Amino acid sequence: MDAIRMTGIVKCFGPVRANDGINFTVKRQEIHCLLGENGTGKSTLMNILFGLYHPDSGEIYINEKKAAISNPNDAYALGIGMVHQHFMLVNQLTVLENIILGKESGGLFLDRKKSQEKVEELVERFGFKIDLHEKVVNLSVGMKQRVEILKTLYRGADIIILDEPTAVLTPQEVEELFKILRHLKESGKTIIFITHKLNETMALSDRITVIRKGKVVFESNTCDTNEKELATQMVGRQVESIITEKGQKTGEVVLELKNVRLHERAGETVSLKVRAGEILGIAGVDGNGQQELEEMIIGNREVKEGTILMNNAPIEHMSVKDRKALGIGYIPSDRHKNAMVSSFSITENFLLGYQEAPEYCRNGFIDYKKLEQDAKKQVEVFEIKVAGVEQEIGQLSGGNQQKVILGREISHDPRFMLVAQPVRGLDIGAIERVHKTLLELKRQGKAILLISAELSEVMNLSDRIAVMYEGEVSAQFVNGEYTKEEIGLFMAGKKQEVKGNE
Ligand SMILES: Nc1ncnc2c1ncn2[C@@H]1O[C@H](COP(=O)(O)OP(=O)(O)O)[C@@H](O)[C@H]1O
Ligand SMILES: [Mg+2]
Repeated sequence: MDAIRMTGIVKCFGPVRANDGINFTVKRQEIHCLLGENGTGKSTLMNILFGLYHPDSGEIYINEKKAAISNPNDAYALGIGMVHQHFMLVNQLTVLENIILGKESGGLFLDRKKSQEKVEELVERFGFKIDLHEKVVNLSVGMKQRVEILKTLYRGADIIILDEPTAVLTPQEVEELFKILRHLKESGKTIIFITHKLNETMALSDRITVIRKGKVVFESNTCDTNEKELATQMVGRQVESIITEKGQKTGEVVLELKNVRLHERAGETVSLKVRAGEILGIAGVDGNGQQELEEMIIGNREVKEGTILMNNAPIEHMSVKDRKALGIGYIPSDRHKNAMVSSFSITENFLLGYQEAPEYCRNGFIDYKKLEQDAKKQVEVFEIKVAGVEQEIGQLSGGNQQKVILGREISHDPRFMLVAQPVRGLDIGAIERVHKTLLELKRQGKAILLISAELSEVMNLSDRIAVMYEGEVSAQFVNGEYTKEEIGLFMAGKKQEVKGNE
């Protein structure tokens, strides 16, 4: 029996056809992956199923019966629950309180005991490992996610939608989550799992639907397909995997952190060296000091303890502008805040951060001609899809914006590149381009520090890896020395026994 059948779903946001006539079917008691690149309409489709958005047209059948779902309460009444990308928990309440919040009915005290029993029964039945009386604020991300899943079960969900649930997890936490989901399936639940990750799709699902640009382009039983075919379907063409060549000779140390304390809670300080001709990858779950590291190196956060050296001279007291003038190129994790002005043209964006650079500024005048030439050149090199360099950067896709920023930074021939979350939110085409460019820069002898929450990105591109945990470096090693699982343990706080290879 079909648990869900959505037919002819259309949903537009202004000119964007986020869902363009989607037919989507999920069978009872299967784990179904909804796979697609960023911005292809996955969340939109599931938000429609959960009653958060209303389709412009199309129909929904739940257990073969036509359904009208105008809000999440309707969805729950039909047995549909959803775990969103961003958790909706109250930090100061306990796990139990969060689960029963808003769902306590009738006399408070009497029902509280009943509610607790019901939650305990669910925890037992589905094999969750969780302390119901712990405050949510003290939980790891993986645990918080379990609370969200329990919330859907408590509200009677039979069909559970999870929107990109692994983005914030360590590899071990991903495994734990998969165990829970398999267990739920064995107990009769139906799971819809949104992702853009191929390996997860293959490891977890029974069936797969691929969507591209708002349309379903492929459906298959998982056992009848493979990663390569899925990648091709997702992107619409063959994709190559880009991996660093090992064994390039490295040169002198270009950038060095010496005993820098990233935040006050961190017990240990951080020391790192990045040499010419190498990529040092910073792995770790988001929020473990990566932001502080990025901001201290570029100059957006004060260094209170320790020193940062560029070409062996301290830079921690310099302005961002002066650091860049020394030869630091910067791809920030938040490009909207730190690397572009949406309402400015591409040419104008080429000036950002380089207002006083001698290439563009002579006797106090900006050389717009040179600026425009450089912008045009990089638009060509990076095959950036624009009407012209006078177009506002805010109108471009994330991938094209990132290429503009990369082009700008490279055109100043930096010695050191600080690159943070460079492919977040980008489509595969742009990801390939960014990754190729980083490897090319390495070949040219640049020193590169790559901060990324995507472990596969760090492992594919880096020569050495440092893992961050709670503002400290829990391990530092030559790429290849540890497996993905071992790195996962460092990401969860395990310390490397002998730290080497700084
Ligand atoms: N609330 C909204 N308002 C305007 N545009 C939206 C909204 N939600 C999604 N979109 C647009 O719809 C498209 C599909 O988005 P989404 O469903 O979030 O994709 P996915 O989940 O596959 O990454 C994107 O172009 C996105 O910008
Ligand atoms: Mg989404």
